[in-house]
Amino acid sequence: MRAYYFDNLPGDQRLPHESASQAAVSISTLNSIKVEFWNIPLQGHEEKLNAVAKERGYRNRDVITISKEGLGDEYETKLKAFYKEHIHEDEEIRYIMDGGGFFDVREAPTDEWIRIAVSAGDLLVLPAGIYHRFSVDERNMTRTTRLFKDEPKWSAIYRSDESDTNPHRIEYLNSITAAA
Ligand code: LAC
Ligand code: NI
Repeated sequence: MRAYYFDNLPGDQRLPHESASQAAVSISTLNSIKVEFWNIPLQGHEEKLNAVAKERGYRNRDVITISKEGLGDEYETKLKAFYKEHIHEDEEIRYIMDGGGFFDVREAPTDEWIRIAVSAGDLLVLPAGIYHRFSVDERNMTRTTRLFKDEPKWSAIYRSDESDTNPHRIEYLNSITAAA
């Protein structure tokens, strides 16, 4: 995992968008916006992943392969949908099994994009209510285990004036202010 401020320049979403002048972002900065991260080496990961899942109440999971082969005709549509800024009303929990990609999360209160580059073995938890988006990288492939507290579902609330007042968004912002 590497995290840094996104360069905000136009260009393919799959490129790193990292410039020399862009500061690196530490895990403690990520933690301060309630993003959590672990590295669990792929080899023999089951036990550790199960332990985290048990401790945090992630009862369900599925595996998705985001690639042309995995998604077929839906690939381009999904790439665009995943890269549209959104929140969820639940945590987003992803354990990367192969390939990689970028989770961009909005820092609060700056509203800057922090880009989190992930690869196999990275386990990332985004809190409910954080604005974020996802892209594959130049490998064009991400195989990831998605963990869920409840039934596997994917429902995104795209950023708008309405999402800004979503109770999960408000609760998230309050949780950050309270921690600061
Ligand atoms: C997700 C990524 C696209 O919600 O943020 O699965
Ligand atoms: Ni999401």
